[in-house]
Amino acid sequence: MKLIAKKPEFKFTPDTTIVLFIDEEQARTISAVIPGGLEFIDTTLDLSFVRGKAGEVMFLPFKDNPNILMCGFGKPKDTTAETLRKSAGNCILSARKRKIKKLHVLLPVVESMKEEDVLTAIAEGMYLANYSFGKYKAKKNNSEADVDTAYMYSGSSLAQQLLTETAVICENSLLCRNLVNETSDNSNPMAISKVAKHIAKQKGVTCSILGRREMEKHSMGLMLAVSRGSHYPPQCIILKYTGNPGKKHTIGLVGKGVTFDSGGINLKPSGNIETMRSDMAGAAACLYAVKTAAELKLKVNIVAAIPCVENMITNSSYRPGDVFRAYNGKTVEIGNTDAEGRLILADALAYTIDRYKPDVIVDVATLTGACVVCFGELVAGLLSTSDELSENLFLAGEKTGERLWRLPLYREYDEDIKSDIADICNISPKKQAGSIIGGIFLKHFVKKTPWAHIDIAGTAWFSKRRGYLPKNATGYGVRLLTDFLKRCE
Ligand code: BES
Ligand code: MG
Ligand code: ZN
Repeated sequence: MKLIAKKPEFKFTPDTTIVLFIDEEQARTISAVIPGGLEFIDTTLDLSFVRGKAGEVMFLPFKDNPNILMCGFGKPKDTTAETLRKSAGNCILSARKRKIKKLHVLLPVVESMKEEDVLTAIAEGMYLANYSFGKYKAKKNNSEADVDTAYMYSGSSLAQQLLTETAVICENSLLCRNLVNETSDNSNPMAISKVAKHIAKQKGVTCSILGRREMEKHSMGLMLAVSRGSHYPPQCIILKYTGNPGKKHTIGLVGKGVTFDSGGINLKPSGNIETMRSDMAGAAACLYAVKTAAELKLKVNIVAAIPCVENMITNSSYRPGDVFRAYNGKTVEIGNTDAEGRLILADALAYTIDRYKPDVIVDVATLTGACVVCFGELVAGLLSTSDELSENLFLAGEKTGERLWRLPLYREYDEDIKSDIADICNISPKKQAGSIIGGIFLKHFVKKTPWAHIDIAGTAWFSKRRGYLPKNATGYGVRLLTDFLKRCE
């Protein structure tokens, strides 16, 4: 979707569609809020039925005047960037159903927000809602169509710059959704490598890939173990972006790329296995965060390690009871082959820290079902050894609406992953604190580097649409990480 800034001079032809945002208070004195030139709305309709409630969308078709899409956004005192994104998302869903291709968007005045923030939030909600994954439908979906262009009427001199930036970030969120929605057959480890190589065509980005041979050479025993049952070779993608060559400071990113998680010998049951093509959502978020950083020319340096494997069940699969040696030399007993994400992250984290010495490192992973039990689909889990890093990620979450909440890593949990025969086990024998145990395991592989782990098992994949976020892949992480990277500039 194109986002185009326009100066607020309203001269509309009758074939256009104008979007008006209205809060509950403005709805009460609606005549006063109707902009000059649009008096026809008030003179021809009884607007006393407009309530301005959050979720309210009215399409008002006029014959000899522009059509109006009236979108409520609730009580002014409750208005935030997120309520505006939601309202703007609803507006797009309505426009898509009516196959309206172009929208002229008049921005509301929100007392508690800067004009620029109102503009950005509404643009984001519109862009992110304007999505569907129709690739595998034989017939083109005839009940809706993408909106082509949103003209945003803003007095701010920064408007076009902000909209251009918003379009870059949101477009990458949509591309991230596509990769996660894609089938495991098509987004296998090698296919993800290809996406990474394509991203590395950007200025400042380089890509190198460790295949099975390199992993053997580097003794990445855990990644090799998980991938053993698949006929796809494992791939550890290393994407580097140098946006600030004068500075040594580097941010490490690691994204879980399990292209299908069958569970392995600890096979997942029906009901849990069907959506496991989404188990590479962390990888996709990191890939598209790097692409976004490069496109926005952010002044940061990034090294992203993206381990991609398929966790399959065959005669060559790794087994419960096996022991493997990680890149950092620690031995790991396999208590459960379905706790595979932490294994590939362990090797990738240790390797990235040892080889590239990032100043901080953040991993993003669909790691535990327990995280979905704890937070549902609305909030990601955060586990971290650094208060400062946690705070920055938290603030990025609040700003973007890709929220997260911290869980503790108390030392007392350490004993839960003790093993009889190896240094540690990949699961706890108890059915407790599943998401924390995932973090406790990963902590063994990060030495002293400030580290954060974001568990996106719930937020990456929705069981139903929620406003501007569709059912299935949500693209969670791209906007969060981009905002976090900006805070590191
Ligand atoms: N990929 C799953 C976690 C997951 C579950 C993601 C639901 C998205 C939705 C992960 O590899 C897994 O299987 N975790 C196990 C860990 C357990 C064996 C300790 C789980 O959560 O059951
Ligand atoms: Mg698993
Ligand atoms: Zn998994």
